[in-house]
Amino acid sequence: MRMIKIFDTTLRDGEQSPGCSMNINEKIEMARQLEAMGVDIIEAGFAASSQGDYNAVKALAKEIKNCTVASLARSLPQDIDSAWGAVKYTENPRLHIFIATSPIHMEYKLRKTPDEVYEQAVEMTKYAKKYCSDVEFSAEDASRSDRQFLKRVFEGVIRAGATTINVPDTVGYASPAEMADLIRWLRENVEGMDTVTLSVHCHNDLGLAVANTLAAILAGADQVECTINGIGERAGNAALEEIVMNLKTRRDFYNADTRIDNTQIYKASRLLSQITGVKIPPNKAIVGDNAFAHESGIHQHGMLANSLTYEIMTPESIGLSRSKMVLGKHSGRHAFNQRLRELGFVVSLDVADSLFKEFKTLADKKKTVSDRDIEALVRRELASEIPEAFMLERYVINTGNTITPTSSITLIKADGSREEKVAIGFGPVDASFNAINKIVDMKIELEEYSIDAVTGGHDAQGEVSVKITNGEKTVKGYGLSTDILEASILAYINAINNLIYETTEREEIK
Ligand code: KIV
Ligand code: ZN
Repeated sequence: MRMIKIFDTTLRDGEQSPGCSMNINEKIEMARQLEAMGVDIIEAGFAASSQGDYNAVKALAKEIKNCTVASLARSLPQDIDSAWGAVKYTENPRLHIFIATSPIHMEYKLRKTPDEVYEQAVEMTKYAKKYCSDVEFSAEDASRSDRQFLKRVFEGVIRAGATTINVPDTVGYASPAEMADLIRWLRENVEGMDTVTLSVHCHNDLGLAVANTLAAILAGADQVECTINGIGERAGNAALEEIVMNLKTRRDFYNADTRIDNTQIYKASRLLSQITGVKIPPNKAIVGDNAFAHESGIHQHGMLANSLTYEIMTPESIGLSRSKMVLGKHSGRHAFNQRLRELGFVVSLDVADSLFKEFKTLADKKKTVSDRDIEALVRRELASEIPEAFMLERYVINTGNTITPTSSITLIKADGSREEKVAIGFGPVDASFNAINKIVDMKIELEEYSIDAVTGGHDAQGEVSVKITNGEKTVKGYGLSTDILEASILAYINAINNLIYETTEREEIK
C-alpha cells in the first residue's frame, strides 16, 4: 500500500484567508491537534511576512515534536534567513521556498524573464540548502506554466538539493484529467524526480481541489498539501478530511493510505471552526452537521434495516459518537470533561474547572446543555485569555419605537479606573457601540455583526460575533449571554481587547 504524506497548511495558506487569522495561542492549540491527528508536515506560517508569523513559526517549532515543521519563504535570501531563524528550533525543520513559473506571473508580477526566474530558483535552493537538508521547492502557478520550462526549473532545483518538488494549481484552474496528466508527465520526463518527493497543492476556485488532488495521487504524487475544512486563499485549499476519507473509504480504488488517525478528524474540524469563528456549512462533506443525518423516511427505513444502504462510512470513523449522553444539571465533571474532549478541546485543568462551573450555572437555567452551548462557553473562555484592556461593569439601555435609543455604558480599564459614557444610535446596539467608542477613543470600524441563537427554545443563549478594524488589522470578538444586548456589548469589548493585543503584540515587520 502506498503511503501518501499529508502536508497540512491550515496555519499558513488557511490562515491567509479572510476571517481565518489566528493568534499565537490559537495556532499552538491547532498545531497540537494536527500533531495528535498524525499529519506528516505542518506548515506553521510565512515567517518573513510579519513579526506575528515569525513568532508563531518559532513557537510551533519549539512545541511540535512528531511532525516536520515548515516555514514558507519567497526565493529571496532575507525570506529564507527569516524562515530558518524561526523554524530551526524543531527536530525536523523544512524550508519551503517558492517562485512563480507561469508566463503571466513572471511577466506581470515578478517582471523577470524565464532565465532570471530559473537562476533565482536554483540559487535560492542552494542558499536554503546551506541551512537545512529538507528543502521543498514550489513552482507557483505550475498548472499554467509551460511544461518544458517547469522541467528545466525542477531539474535545476533537484540538482541544487531540493528534496520535495511541489506542483501548485495556485488559481484552481486545472481539471482532474489535466492534473493527472501533468503529474504523470513530470514523473516520466523530469530527471531526478524519482529521487525526491512529488507533491501537489490544489486550490478550490472551480470546486475541484479535492478531485484534482486525488487524480494527482492516482497519477503518482506522494505528498498532498491541504487544510482542515478546506480553508485557504479565496475558495480555499483541498480539504484534508475529504482527501483522507476518500483514500480510506475507497482503498479498493486508490490503493493508497495516510498516517492520519481519522478518528481525530471531527475534533480538528470543530476546533478550527471554534478558533476562527468560521462556521462549517451543514452540508459540508465529512464534517458538516448533516453529513451523517438521515431525514427522509425511505432513508431512515433503509438505515434501520442495514446502515450500509445509505452510509458509506460511519460517524465513529471520524470521531463522532452516534449516541451521546444528554448533559444537564445532574451531569458530573467526568461526563463534562469527556464531552469537551470529544468536541476537540484540549484545555488546562484550570480552564476545565472554570468551564465546569459555567456549565453548571447554565444547566440551572436550561433543561439540557447542547454541544453548541458548550462550544460557545469554550469560545468565550478562550476569548478571555487575551489581556483585558477594558471590561464591562454595567450598562443601561433605553429603547422603544417612539424614542431615540440611548445607551449608558461603564467600563473598567486595566488600571482599575472606571469611565461612563452615554450615546445615542440607530438602535440599542448601535447606541451601545457608540458609547464604548467614546470611552476607548480609538479609530474603529464595525465590519461584521452577527447574532445566533446557540440552540432553539425560549431559554436559548444569544451568541454575538463581531469583526472590527482599525484600517490595518481586522479582529473578531465574541459575546455570549441570555440577553442579546449584553452579548453584543461583550462581543464588541472582546474585539477591542483583541485589537489592542494584536496591534501591540503582533506588529508587522517594517
Ligand atoms: O497556492 C500556491 O501556489 C501556494 C504556494 C506558495 C505553494 O500557496
Ligand atoms: Zn496556496
